[in-house]
Amino acid sequence: MKITTVILAAGKGTRMHSSLPKVLHCIADKPLLQHVYDLSRQLADNSIHIVIGHGAEQVRQALASCRVNWLEQLQQLGTGHAVQQASPFIGDDDTVLILYGDVPLLKLSTVERLLANVSGESLALLTVNLADSSGYGRIVRNVAGQVLKIVEEKDATASEKTIREVNTGIMAVSGRWLKIWLGQLTNHNVQKEYYLTDIIEMAVAEGVVIVTSQPETAEEVLGVNNRMQLAQLERVYQLEQADKLMSQGVSLRDPLRFDLRGYVESLGQDIEIDVNVLLEGKISIGNHVKIGPNTQIKNAVIGDNVEILGCCVIEDAVIGAGSRIGPYARLRPETVLAANVHIGNFVEIKKSAIAQDSKINHLSYIGDATVGSKVNIGAGVITCNYDGANKFRTVIGDGAFIGSDSQLVAPVTIGNNATIGAGSTITRNAPDNQLTLSRGQQFSVAGWQRPVKKGS
Ligand code: UD1
Ligand code: CA
Repeated sequence: MKITTVILAAGKGTRMHSSLPKVLHCIADKPLLQHVYDLSRQLADNSIHIVIGHGAEQVRQALASCRVNWLEQLQQLGTGHAVQQASPFIGDDDTVLILYGDVPLLKLSTVERLLANVSGESLALLTVNLADSSGYGRIVRNVAGQVLKIVEEKDATASEKTIREVNTGIMAVSGRWLKIWLGQLTNHNVQKEYYLTDIIEMAVAEGVVIVTSQPETAEEVLGVNNRMQLAQLERVYQLEQADKLMSQGVSLRDPLRFDLRGYVESLGQDIEIDVNVLLEGKISIGNHVKIGPNTQIKNAVIGDNVEILGCCVIEDAVIGAGSRIGPYARLRPETVLAANVHIGNFVEIKKSAIAQDSKINHLSYIGDATVGSKVNIGAGVITCNYDGANKFRTVIGDGAFIGSDSQLVAPVTIGNNATIGAGSTITRNAPDNQLTLSRGQQFSVAGWQRPVKKGS
């Protein structure tokens, strides 16, 4: 079955009160329209057409990497008019799937069930029963339960308005029929719009059966019209992500306080994630990893038995097995930690490789550095990697001990097993195995008096 998917995305989204077209607002950092596109990409033998209008250029650019036939609807004259834009691209034998660019949580299984109902003699319609059906097109059935038509809220009679079963807008229909019916649409209704929903009555008149199916949950077919709905669907999406991780063996202290804005590429067993953890981008987590509360991790590979304590910010980093990070640590891009590295509180690491068993436990900045194994970096050590114009590297050999509050002015190399005395400013290379320090001599002033406040 060759599928032609038409995604409607020309609407303005006035109620978002935004300069951004509605379909570019995000759930989990991904535009609404991208969610819909990604879903339709999962269907085999499918060509995707997206109808754009408001902010067309912006939308096209935001999804520039997508394989899409963009169709511009210059005036938004209704959903039927929107689908008409795709008419020239619809083959007689195609199955046309209509999706909405502002309905981001639709599931593949629901679309597959819908597609199973379409043929030359049947039109597949996705409907849902809502406790409050106001605003939606109502599904009108005869006494035998067969669908007769869809009436829009504004055109509905009082009794039709009581119908709880509504049109989701999502449907699948044979290309041959659709093209005929699109050509017959009129705008003789309260809104003076070309309603796609009018094709239902046309189908019934031709003896084409309307076969309905429903999504597993109503959330799947909810659209975004304002920022409250955007936030609601974000939480629905996040709870789904949380459930998925928990079903794979991750313990989440509170699934309501967990966010994934990206995807988990690989996952070990017995991972414990405390509250308010945000995972972004591409994440791999090994076995027995613990992640403390209030931590943000983006694009990271985390080895087995790693413990990340609370309030850390980690981006583009590799953390070797058995390492312990935080609390309050920041790992910036291109940080590569080998096994059993300890990074403690208020330590910032950037573009640095740190070999096995090394410790940087307190208040340090290590940038553009290569640190050997079993190195101990004392409190307050800083690599001075930047002279205001260029960046330089610091190399620290295996087994070195860097005394507290030292500054290593790059480019500089500290030898293997070298010791740097506390409070040193190191501007030249320090040899292997020796103590190197630079410090003013300590002296005391006998008889010195503290100043006193004038007039006292
Ligand atoms: C539509 C349906 C209604 C259904 C509801 C579900 C029609 C006539 N009505 O109503 O039965 O219950 O969706 O949400 O189809 N769009 C365009 N171009 C246009 C008009 C709309 O691209 O000219 C797009 C919008 O951007 C949106 C979608 O189509 O993504 C639906 O449009 P909207 O105006 O929200 O339709 P409703 O009136 O809510
Ligand atoms: Ca709508």
